[in-house]
Amino acid sequence: RRIAVLASGRGSNLQAVLDAIAAGQLDAEIVGVFSDKPGAPALQRVPAALRWSADARDYADRDAFDAVLAAAVAERQPDWVLCAGYMRILGEAFIAGLRGRLLNIHPSLLPRFRGLRTHARALAAGEREHGASVHFVTPELDAGAVIAQAVVPVLAGDDAESLAARVLAVEHPLLIATLRLAVSGRLAERGATVMADGH
Ligand code: GRF
Repeated sequence: RRIAVLASGRGSNLQAVLDAIAAGQLDAEIVGVFSDKPGAPALQRVPAALRWSADARDYADRDAFDAVLAAAVAERQPDWVLCAGYMRILGEAFIAGLRGRLLNIHPSLLPRFRGLRTHARALAAGEREHGASVHFVTPELDAGAVIAQAVVPVLAGDDAESLAARVLAVEHPLLIATLRLAVSGRLAERGATVMADGH
């Protein structure tokens, strides 16, 4: 199965996918890494031939940027497209073109804390548990059907940084488990419902 990854930053989730493939734990191939940040460290995790980036500031509007991104992604013919720390909002046309094949990993227990600064907000809200979710991407931000979640405790003395690190440690195995389901053909979106059968 062919996986394309969208990433804006560090790329530790991308690295977890690369490592799982190399270890024979995920029967898939990374066919491209796409970024809205030409300097993103994530890009450096794959060979140059697999890198694509463009600076959104060079495009007139969101649709113009999304159109070139969509074309570049389509060229690699991915079965699945994964947003892993992709920090730019995707427009409706982009999402519609990949509906049911576009996944995101988000650092909160959705539907709690959609959007940014999830760890600081979880602390401010006095949550006792926090975590990460993998979900299908739909036009409403971080609101698509949730496929899987991983939970961590919030500990006394946590700050956003310590909590983020605890969440990140469970993001990686959560992502691999979800991608294993996806590449095995056992994952499907049916409206707001996720079908994950147990073959
Ligand atoms: C992760 O916490 C991911 O859930 C969030 O942004 C962070 C990206 O980390 N959307 P990395 O770039 O994969 O290291």
